[in-house]
Amino acid sequence: MTSIRRAKILSVGTAVPPQVLTNKDLEKIIDTSDEWITTRTGIRERHVVGKDASIHVYDLGAQAAQQALARAGVAPEAVDAVICATFSPDNFFPATACTIQHKLGCTNAFAFDVSAACAGFVYALTVANSFIQSGQCTTVVVVGAEIASRTLDWTDRSTCILFGDGAGAVVLTASDDGNQGILAAYLHSDGSQGDILCLPAWGEKRYMTMNGGEVYKHAVRLMSEAVQKALTTAGLDAGSVDLLIPHQANLRIIEAISRHMHLPMEKIVVNVDRYSNTGSASIPIALDEAWQNGRITENTITVFTALGGGLATGSVVVRW
Ligand code: ACO
Repeated sequence: MTSIRRAKILSVGTAVPPQVLTNKDLEKIIDTSDEWITTRTGIRERHVVGKDASIHVYDLGAQAAQQALARAGVAPEAVDAVICATFSPDNFFPATACTIQHKLGCTNAFAFDVSAACAGFVYALTVANSFIQSGQCTTVVVVGAEIASRTLDWTDRSTCILFGDGAGAVVLTASDDGNQGILAAYLHSDGSQGDILCLPAWGEKRYMTMNGGEVYKHAVRLMSEAVQKALTTAGLDAGSVDLLIPHQANLRIIEAISRHMHLPMEKIVVNVDRYSNTGSASIPIALDEAWQNGRITENTITVFTALGGGLATGSVVVRW
């Protein structure tokens, strides 16, 4: 019997800046209310770097990755690649992943960033999976890290309430146990909708703009479709999903996906209330919480799904 080489997630780590910004705090900055934000989004508070300019995206990313490596018991020198997803890098180059590689001491690894906005973690995970499946890599660190608060127009109450800062990372390694690891991945992009969620690199308005209603509509449909496509590739159906970890954009989107997919909320991980939308970090931060709370055990079928500017959509199916 030929064995199937798959990428297996060994561990996860997270890092968030210490400052917590509550909806009540936001009431003092913009014309909004805790009631409006909670009802529309489910968000109650978020971590932000605030005025602390000494915290970089690569610091949060390296901290999360360090925790993941320690939990996996993997030495930095054993890592073949570091891939970082971010839409809020400190620099166009060097890539955030290169600075993280240096901070971790992964001296035998190559490193690069992936740009797929809030879907970045799922894209980076899929790329890492391909490197491992092809045999080019054995051990890969995948990081999602954002200081989203630095990309916002803090006078635009319809977007600045939605985002927070943080990082999450996983350590992946090759496994010949055909039953465990990443079973399938699905990616899809629709550049025709690029203007509904945008963060310009140049010009005067270098902050995030969003058509909230359009994003909402696409997010529910595309994230649900991505799950279904990835499950079909894995030879599974929605009934076999033990845990869905969606990008934590907002509670209403997550609840709509639950209805759309006939998947009870008990099977869906939600922590958007305490972290808000942390972009490419949201899935690994939610994964860490689910893992720590004992919601992931051997054979748990977990599905990640995300949508971000692009529009970029993706889903990954994992058996633990
Ligand atoms: N506080 C108080 N009032 C507000 C606020 C606020 N923070 N923001 C907007 N409003 C007002 C608007 O000005 C508007 O007032 P008006 O009727 O007098 O013009 C009113 O509230 C209703 O505005 P809508 O935009 O229609 O509000 P809606 O109920 O659609 O909710 C929201 C807006 C929460 C942004 C919603 O569209 C949404 O969830 N969209 C998805 C966006 C998202 O999650 N983006 C994340 C990035 S993409 C991703 O990660 C998938």
